[in-house]
Amino acid sequence: MEIVICPDVNGVGRTAADSFERTIQRKPAAVLGLATGSSPLPLYNELERRSRHGQLSFREVRAFSLDEYIGLPAEHPETYREVVNREFTTRVDIDPAGVRGPNGNAPDLEIEAADFERAITDAGGIDVQVLGVGSNGHIGFNEPGSSLGSRTRVKTLLPKTRRDNARFFGDPNDVPHHVITQGIGTIMEARRIVLMATGEQKADAIARLVEGPISAMCPGSVLQLHSNTVVILDESAASKLALADYYRYTYENKPAWQRL
Ligand code: GLP
Repeated sequence: MEIVICPDVNGVGRTAADSFERTIQRKPAAVLGLATGSSPLPLYNELERRSRHGQLSFREVRAFSLDEYIGLPAEHPETYREVVNREFTTRVDIDPAGVRGPNGNAPDLEIEAADFERAITDAGGIDVQVLGVGSNGHIGFNEPGSSLGSRTRVKTLLPKTRRDNARFFGDPNDVPHHVITQGIGTIMEARRIVLMATGEQKADAIARLVEGPISAMCPGSVLQLHSNTVVILDESAASKLALADYYRYTYENKPAWQRL
């Protein structure tokens, strides 16, 4: 696990975008894994900028999102399908038909989960997956206690996660109780993982994820077992890391041949 500490949020976005750009340069038909929430927004802003400047093209790229609320009306602005559309798909030159998430309104959610897994496999697997982290250490919507080998399935949100996400909804009671999410085992199959976190409210979760024991109580801690993960942080999110100075030193002295 590589840890990169950036001076500010824009630096986090640029560093994450570098990783995406390199993947797409090597493989123009790359398969991206998208996340929602505030954390990836600096990445999407930077990808839009690079796309507009002709530095990067998503024409051959396909993408899968991580998760979805169950039971929100299809036209609701906070369905993750709508959020991904608004924050990413409509801002770059990707073919919208190549972007898919789990459908939270499918008549049979078990079948939907299996179909979604199969679609990722048929696309050849995810080349680079962006992740945020919940304040309790969840990735995707895999709440504490989730099996570290889990596949796409239905989960129940903790009250704290519903409260955290209430800021996106007018009425906190409108936050759904249930979601369909890629499992931790699914996420772990991505060839590269770029986790982004900013702000002091993420400092505890990041300390547990990066330096704590691997445990289902902090689902993101399983990333310690992933061989190609970078964790990109601002100073506040990194503020509780015991080895922060070492991570800074390592990154500052990184030889040019050893790229991010
Ligand atoms: C939700 C999403 C996660 C995201 C988390 C943190 O629970 N399902 O994918 O990482 O929120 O969101 P934020 O980045 O807004 O703090």
